[in-house]
Amino acid sequence: MTIPAVDSFAGKLAVVTGGGSGIGRELVRQLAAQGCSVAACDLNPDTIAVTAATAWAAAPPGLRVTGHTCDVSDEAQVQRFRDELLAEHASDHVDLVFANAGIYGGGSFVGDSRQEWERTFAINWWGVYFCARTFLPLLIASGDGVLVNTCSVAGFWPTAGAGAPITAYAASEFAIKGFSEALIEDLRSNAPQVRVVVAMPGVVNTEIYENSQRALGRPAWDQLSDAGLLELIPDRTRSTLIEMGLLAEDFSADDLRQLIPRMKEKIRDQGFTPAQAAAGILDGVRSGAWRILVGEEAKMLDEQVRANPEAPFNYDNYAEMYGPLIAQAQAKASGTAEP
Ligand SMILES: NC(=O)c1ccc[n+]([C@@H]2O[C@H](COP(=O)([O-])OP(=O)(O)OC[C@H]3O[C@@H](n4cnc5c(N)ncnc54)[C@H](O)[C@@H]3O)[C@@H](O)[C@H]2O)c1
Repeated sequence: MTIPAVDSFAGKLAVVTGGGSGIGRELVRQLAAQGCSVAACDLNPDTIAVTAATAWAAAPPGLRVTGHTCDVSDEAQVQRFRDELLAEHASDHVDLVFANAGIYGGGSFVGDSRQEWERTFAINWWGVYFCARTFLPLLIASGDGVLVNTCSVAGFWPTAGAGAPITAYAASEFAIKGFSEALIEDLRSNAPQVRVVVAMPGVVNTEIYENSQRALGRPAWDQLSDAGLLELIPDRTRSTLIEMGLLAEDFSADDLRQLIPRMKEKIRDQGFTPAQAAAGILDGVRSGAWRILVGEEAKMLDEQVRANPEAPFNYDNYAEMYGPLIAQAQAKASGTAEP
């Protein structure tokens, strides 16, 4: 099933949540570069101000890009964001809504705090829900609106592997996927001028870990005590870093403090980038797809779970499953990939 394609984003008004970083920031930049006015929000007032200013400065003349501070898990703040943007863009409707804000957290239902679990679920799920509640009337008023809910492969693949439960994240992503798919018929029957799209990226190289810590009210890694920093590294990551020769067996907090910025610099722009993910989402919306698997990993995992619903839990098979993607990435890195 496809929905009518979007010919062009030019001249439209888009709303993007979580626009201060990662995929959201790239959605804002790419939409603005294609002539679309954007109202973007984020929990972090500093990063959203940068996104809005840089995207607007690089955009063609005649459009507006505005940045707003808003916690999407708080309905009153989402409504205030709506009122601000309608006033600043002098509009009575919006054409596109990208409900993109989200965090990682509450991995273990057993071991992590209830507060962390519920905060993660609230941002991811209630954030999407409040955006739909708040903006649906304005998408209807557009006469040709698109609601794009960012989900994740965790919406159909509820584990990050052995020893890495993702209970709050997966529960919220399953909710986003289920709601978006159920909305298809609701909109068809009751608001045919609006379409819903669910976008499911695999792993994207963003600052989601740091931003999630902030959203959960935790200090940044460089503000942690030595003990706090050492506790941050799960056993599995600890062994991998030692095996890779990046840390000695008896590494100290100081060794870790030096390694983190080096690692961040090394992996910057590696793997699947936020720019590629945003381009995949926008291409999908333009094509009329309602279900966008963003990136090769997402397509591979979708095939795996359809062939075998137990595939997510067959960890022994992961090496084989990821083999072709790893080979492809290595070939790309060494410059031998097929054009
Ligand atoms: N990075 C990945 O591997 C990945 C994979 C699949 C799906 N996703 C999804 O993509 C979306 C964007 O993630 P990203 O990787 O670009 O992360 P990111 O951290 O780089 O960007 C997310 C932005 O959302 C903001 N945010 C967090 N809580 C908020 C709140 N309550 N209200 C408003 N803004 C808030 C953050 O401050 C941040 O600027 C998320 O929904 C995430 O679940 C990410």
